[in-house]
Amino acid sequence: TTESGGSTESTTQAETTESVVPETVVIGSDIPYRPFEYETTSGELTGFDVDIAAAIFEDQLGVDYEFKPTSFDSIIPSLNNNNFRIIMSAMTINETRDEKVDFSDPYFTAYQTVIVRDDGEITSKADLEGRPVGVQKGTTGAGAAEELQEEFDGNLELNRYDQISGAFQALINGQVDAVINDNTVNAEFANQRDDVVFLEGEGAAAESDQEAPPYLTLTIENYGIAFREDDDAFLERVNEALAAIKENGTYDEIYSEYFAG
Ligand code: ARG
Repeated sequence: TTESGGSTESTTQAETTESVVPETVVIGSDIPYRPFEYETTSGELTGFDVDIAAAIFEDQLGVDYEFKPTSFDSIIPSLNNNNFRIIMSAMTINETRDEKVDFSDPYFTAYQTVIVRDDGEITSKADLEGRPVGVQKGTTGAGAAEELQEEFDGNLELNRYDQISGAFQALINGQVDAVINDNTVNAEFANQRDDVVFLEGEGAAAESDQEAPPYLTLTIENYGIAFREDDDAFLERVNEALAAIKENGTYDEIYSEYFAG
């Protein structure tokens, strides 16, 4: 909108520039990634990210939002090609990504973890040497697996899947012996089955001041909402809205809906 009394020039400016807060915020996301973004059995999109989006955009900023399914591996180039306005996809804030996008304040803490079949074959990180491991392409889980591969002097087979469901399926089929992925997403899968368990052990979380989860953690990460680098004014508004929902209890309510205790 143009301020009253604005010159012709500023009107032109307003027409050519994307509005700070759009009427509908289009959000790129790789779906399903349960419990962050997934469809219920009746086909309704839900999840932690979806509820946080509703709280930020509908409740705080008074606009609509819409999720646009996008492959995770190409999600950053896709944002920078203007296919959507922002990314909300359980995306970890890291340096490589920070060179290409801007991140909101962190909104969730996660860990890279390892799940295996519960047949007693693999019970420690060392047992993974020489084994096939499944990851989702382009994720920090893939990054953690590559580091492990180096630790084993290349002696680790990496199978990269377009979606995490492919890696999970491969674990069940026996095509891979482990999946490296975000803890709460691994937990959602492992808790549905009695034949999949977390690899135990200490790790990144134990070395931090955070309360350590009861399984091996390869990294500690924070999720952020990603913006194009020229979208500062909108990023600022979203950070304010995020702070507001943390302050007014909405964030905690959503958190406890998806994550017990
Ligand atoms: N947190 C991990 C990363 O940023 C995995 C995210 C995958 N998200 C998804 N919706 N598939 O790389």
